[in-house]
Amino acid sequence: MKKIIIGITGASGVIISQKIIEFLNSHDNVIYIVISDNGKIVFEKETGQSFNEYIKKIQNVTVVDNKVMDSFLASGSNDIDGMVVVPCSMSSLGKLANGITDNLIIRAADVMIKEKRKLIIVPRETPLNSIHLENMLKLSQLNVVIFPPMPAFYSGLKDIDDMASQMAGRIIKLLEIKNNLYRKY
Ligand SMILES: Cc1cc2nc3c(=O)[nH]c(=O)nc-3n(C[C@H](O)[C@H](O)[C@H](O)COP(=O)(O)O)c2cc1C
Repeated sequence: MKKIIIGITGASGVIISQKIIEFLNSHDNVIYIVISDNGKIVFEKETGQSFNEYIKKIQNVTVVDNKVMDSFLASGSNDIDGMVVVPCSMSSLGKLANGITDNLIIRAADVMIKEKRKLIIVPRETPLNSIHLENMLKLSQLNVVIFPPMPAFYSGLKDIDDMASQMAGRIIKLLEIKNNLYRKY
């Protein structure tokens, strides 16, 4: 059992966060979800339902408001094992790479870095400019895993759902949690 934070920001790729949430939740992990206001907008656009409607159907998850900075998620003394920011907007990427911890998602991620714990970010933008690339390099040099949601086109993926499962499985594996969401070669 692990304790994992899922940060959802306003970039495309909400389906990957749903897959991760649903897998971790159904395999005895403790998850805390923090979603930005823009994350909620993209969530509704991509899934056809509001985040609040979606999360009501999932039992035993804790959603923490992105503005609540006195949450234990913002403290280095917490017992969180790891965090995934999925999807991660270029705005949130820029804030994290530059220490601008003005919301709970970025503060919690910053805590993961300073406490040398596992942090995976799933940045989504294309094409990437030099600012995006420099920010990713900065974080990578701090041992943050940069996981762009890029499909393996050779692997016989059937549809978007299949593609998202594959990516979610690889991300969960990086959290050191065994799963069968992705194909192994
Ligand atoms: C439908 C929609 C899709 C978006 N997709 C992306 C995206 O893929 N990548 C990105 O960096 N920003 C994207 N944005 C813009 C971000 O939401 C915007 O920069 C926002 O300030 C990010 O704030 P947050 O990181 O606090 O959620 C999108 C916005 C909307 C409305």
